[in-house]
Amino acid sequence: EIAEKGGFSHFMLKEIYDIPSALINSYTSLMEKYLTLASMIVYGAKNVYVIGNGTSLHAGLISSYYFSEIGLNINVVSAAEFPYYALDNISTGSVIIAISQSGETTDVIRSVKIAKQRGAVILGITNSVGSRLALESNVYLPITAGPEMAVPATKTFTSTIVVLKTLATYTALHSGKKDKKDIEELRNNIEELSKQVSIKLPEMEKQAENIAEKIEKESLYVSSSGINYPIALEGALKFKEASMTHAEGMQLGELLHGPIVLTNKGYPIILIKPAEEQTEDLYNKIVKSIKDRGSMIITISNEGDITTVNTTRDLTPISNIIPLQLLAYKLGVKKGLPIDTPPGLVKAVII
Ligand code: AGP
Repeated sequence: EIAEKGGFSHFMLKEIYDIPSALINSYTSLMEKYLTLASMIVYGAKNVYVIGNGTSLHAGLISSYYFSEIGLNINVVSAAEFPYYALDNISTGSVIIAISQSGETTDVIRSVKIAKQRGAVILGITNSVGSRLALESNVYLPITAGPEMAVPATKTFTSTIVVLKTLATYTALHSGKKDKKDIEELRNNIEELSKQVSIKLPEMEKQAENIAEKIEKESLYVSSSGINYPIALEGALKFKEASMTHAEGMQLGELLHGPIVLTNKGYPIILIKPAEEQTEDLYNKIVKSIKDRGSMIITISNEGDITTVNTTRDLTPISNIIPLQLLAYKLGVKKGLPIDTPPGLVKAVII
């Protein structure tokens, strides 16, 4: 087992260190003909629903930012809720983008079957090409992050984002909103991000280790806005799984609409600096108002308490989730927890 972990003490840490190579593998394994087919299906759809659970749902939420900026309104719904959500809208012409790293999650398979019965086309995105999801899909795109052993998902999340961003970019080719140059640019940006992340990982790990010392509290918040809002949700999920710490992820502005009352002296609030410039003013005001309450603010940005890698706005969810994964991991180590196998949790939830 030590050999399988490549010298790391846990699979989770090893898999975080796998992220740079997984990003490249995921991009290069996507075949042009399947991307073209999948993107044509999405472009021609009557309506598009993105479904998944947990981490896969959070990746799906990020994709809604990619699709909305190319003029496509998609609906992101938990696969657990989909059977009770707007089923009357699902018929021939509907497209379901189903995301599941295992490809076996019951909620996803159940929802896919219901949608198929109603005539929808299924576009699967999975890390397991022999899975039930792959079999049930009309077309699927592989995540190709390599096997992920730790129950808390890390590299499959960042690689799923690559798949979704690539799919959205190809979809925009059909409307003329993007051209081949954008595809080229995306490849360069992914390569650069991968390079920078592998250089910076040891430093981020050190920073996370130091900060984990301070945030060992009963509860904490993780917050951001814009395309990094789903990263706040995903970060909070990692804290629950890897460090068994109650954590809530929330949209930055929403912090002021209730959650702030629970914050007091020393309450940890992890803020991911939003990537959208227009949020800067609001971000500064909110930081000030929570600082005034004496909360312990931990910032994640280029110049934050944990310094992330510079990248384009659309890829910041990848650079920003890594410090949160590391922080949750380090906190779990500090508490002596079974990080790779959190109690009561399994890799694929089959019920
Ligand atoms: C991720 O860290 C969790 N273990 C969990 O939320 C997971 O993402 C969810 O169960 C969905 O799994 P899937 O992607 O294999 O369908």
